[in-house]
Amino acid sequence: MADIICIIGSKGGSGKTTLSHMLCYGLGLIGRRAACVMTDICREPPPAHSLPYVYADGRSATARNRILATLRERDNWVGVIDGGANSLDTDSALHAEADLVLLPFRDSAEDLRVVCADLARLPNAYALPSQWPTNPWQYKASVRLLESIPAEFRGRVLAPVFSISSSKLLLQQPPADNLPTPLNNACRAIARYTLGILENGGAALPEAQTAIGASRRLQRMVDQRESQTAHA
Ligand SMILES: Nc1ncnc2c1ncn2[C@@H]1O[C@H](COP(=O)(O)OP(=O)(O)OP(=O)(O)O)[C@@H](O)[C@H]1O
Ligand SMILES: [Mg+2]
Repeated sequence: MADIICIIGSKGGSGKTTLSHMLCYGLGLIGRRAACVMTDICREPPPAHSLPYVYADGRSATARNRILATLRERDNWVGVIDGGANSLDTDSALHAEADLVLLPFRDSAEDLRVVCADLARLPNAYALPSQWPTNPWQYKASVRLLESIPAEFRGRVLAPVFSISSSKLLLQQPPADNLPTPLNNACRAIARYTLGILENGGAALPEAQTAIGASRRLQRMVDQRESQTAHA
């Protein structure tokens, strides 16, 4: 039976589609079969797709249910469902079907407000900081933002997926011939991390795997590097 991972959430432009493709691509790189299912009724499927995972059009409920039923019959597959913004009913239906629900959000107070409302509405979902800043100053501000997450949700906010500009190559038309190594590595890391969360089966996450734990660890590394540079 395939595992079904839904990447959904009310906020537009949070990274749902990019993350869906990064995850499917990364799963392929680590030897898993993946299908990316687009469900956003405001988008058209790409005219061509050359990447090593299946791409399916699940924009109607009928098509989506047929695809999910087919996937459920297949062992060792992972179905990744790419949601659309402001699709509350579809999101609730997908949340009920999924083995893992991810809600990407960006580093803004508005994103945080929306994702907290989604976390309250979708009790099995995890929030995933997406397109997270890598610039040290922006990163410090983003850590403060994460620390403002209400305590009731903190254990459900995963370690960030960092911004990587080459991620857009996955969606490029015509498809890119070669993808850069840093993108391959980022996609593999996302796939491994996501499978780990899936295997965790909804149990409480160790702090190191949450956004706050991961951010504090990274912040310590940045601070150490800064103080070494200052003393050099
Ligand atoms: N990890 C990332 N690094 C850099 N840019 C990113 C990343 N993820 C997404 N983006 C960029 O952010 C923008 C929005 O991403 P995307 O289309 O995946 O969001 P979405 O949630 O699917 O949007 P919509 O709600 O419209 O469906 C795009 O320009 C995309 O290239
Ligand atoms: Mg999208």
